[in-house]
Amino acid sequence: MSFMCSLDTAARKDEITTIVVFGASGDLAKKKTFPALFHLYKSALLPPHTRIFGYARSDLSRSEYEARITANIGKSDKERACIPGFLNICSYIRGQYDRDDDFLTLRREIEAKEDVMLNDAACDSSVAATSNSSSSGLSIDSSCRAGRNKRVFYLALPPSQFVSVARQIKNNVYDPKHYNRLVIEKPFGHDLESSSHLCQEIGTLFPESEVYRIDHYLGKEMVKNILVLRFANVFFQAVWNKEHISNVQIVFKEPFGTEGRGGYFEGVGIIRDVIQNHLLQVMSIVAMETPNSLDSEDIRDRKTEVLRHIKPVELDQVLLGQYTASKDGSKPGYKDDDGVPKDSNTPTFAQMVLHIDNERWRGVPWVIKAGKALDAAKVLVRIQFKEKSGNVFPDLARNELVVQVSPKEAVYMKTLVKEPGLSTNLTLSELDMTYQSRFEGISIPDAYSTLILDVLNGDHSNFVRADELEEAWRIFTPLLHRIERENVQPQPYAYGSRGPEGADEFAQLRAGYKMP
Ligand code: NDP
Ligand code: BG6
Repeated sequence: MSFMCSLDTAARKDEITTIVVFGASGDLAKKKTFPALFHLYKSALLPPHTRIFGYARSDLSRSEYEARITANIGKSDKERACIPGFLNICSYIRGQYDRDDDFLTLRREIEAKEDVMLNDAACDSSVAATSNSSSSGLSIDSSCRAGRNKRVFYLALPPSQFVSVARQIKNNVYDPKHYNRLVIEKPFGHDLESSSHLCQEIGTLFPESEVYRIDHYLGKEMVKNILVLRFANVFFQAVWNKEHISNVQIVFKEPFGTEGRGGYFEGVGIIRDVIQNHLLQVMSIVAMETPNSLDSEDIRDRKTEVLRHIKPVELDQVLLGQYTASKDGSKPGYKDDDGVPKDSNTPTFAQMVLHIDNERWRGVPWVIKAGKALDAAKVLVRIQFKEKSGNVFPDLARNELVVQVSPKEAVYMKTLVKEPGLSTNLTLSELDMTYQSRFEGISIPDAYSTLILDVLNGDHSNFVRADELEEAWRIFTPLLHRIERENVQPQPYAYGSRGPEGADEFAQLRAGYKMP
């Protein structure tokens, strides 16, 4: 049963689709964008008449370009068999990000390929029509030409290039008679002011309805699942409030450090890197009110609304950490990374309490914890319920619902049951829905495949709207500015540990979390 319907756009056989990947020579394109496009191609989820252009300044030969496209695909024989067909629909255009001529060349190339695809589509339809005597009689060519082509412009570029490229697209490539979609990668600004400025600049070029800001957490299977768990199951809906929930924790743990990305991370820190975006997005879905419908704007209205009820985070509600070398000295500390100054105060760990001041959540603490170079790889949401007062069973452990986003997708419910056998004791066990065992043989797509498919389908539900982004920055900007202005020092913690001193007790002391 599907719950999201596609809008303008259910992929039609005669649909002409162009995808331009700007920054095609870069890391994201190689690691994520091309593999995701390939995944859609091999799953027959790209419309049949699709052309992919890579665009960048680098002078890449055809074989160098193909090597980048295929660097992270082709793990099985089945995949390898699809590679030639995929490469056939990929072209590369070399150009600057601010030169009219280069974008006019791109436009000409797009139009030329669109014409070829249009003819192919007409031929396909003509074959179909002659073999189908009950055909509608509609002129095939005119039905194709009447259609609007789809053009997706994916900016896999450093943010410094976003506005220049968006302007070039608008001035030299954009054609209002087609569907135009601009996909932008994070980071969307550095704080409230820079983000608002960026939104304004992009907003003068593209209407919000054409902008898709990627937060890849919104494409993750278990994050998408939260909406379903909450609003499709009567027993969760009934207890999803301050009467029954004691506290909520959203946890992100990575077992590796910045390792070579220190130069990037230094100006960012863990709060901008994953909390202000990925984890706050998760929080907004866990906390939002019921949307009026599954329409993307209804969902985004509700997410934005709940963010409006979150007060800016205060420094005294935050524990900051920065990792040092591992205890055995085998792993380097953050400050050993290239590009990180020896006196850096950039946090690689942060734990904080947030409050939502609305009817549903008033008084419930939300703990967000995120850290690099910790003891485990884990992203999860832990919802701890209150004890039932006056229960016939005394001293009960609390129920918990855990949605594990990674590494192994799972939903489990810590539930009290009778100890099996002759014992009359109670024990806390799990109603466990680990996806790999429950849905045997399933392959969960990478978030980027899901999100690119959403872009093709014109579904904005899993993309960050400008007003939502503004709220997210409002919540964190005062804290970030204070940390920077006052040079607040993070607590050290060893690479591979559980975090700085106090991290383990934080949720118990600050949010009333009770260890089961
Ligand atoms: P890169 O640094 O690899 O840049 C992508 C391409 O942009 C480069 O190949 C280069 O192409 C061009 N470029 C780089 N620097 C400049 C510059 N100063 N001026 C003009 N062009 C430049 O970035 P990524 O691919 O890593 O990331 C792209 C976007 O995706 C960024 O916004 C990033 O924050 C985001 N992102 C990246 C992730 C990743 O894992 N890499 C993860 C999540 C988000 P050329 O010189 O050939 O034109
Ligand atoms: C990125 C951050 O946005 O998300 C990285 O820049 C982080 O620092 C990554 O490692 C985590 O994503 P995932 O999908 O691996 O959990």
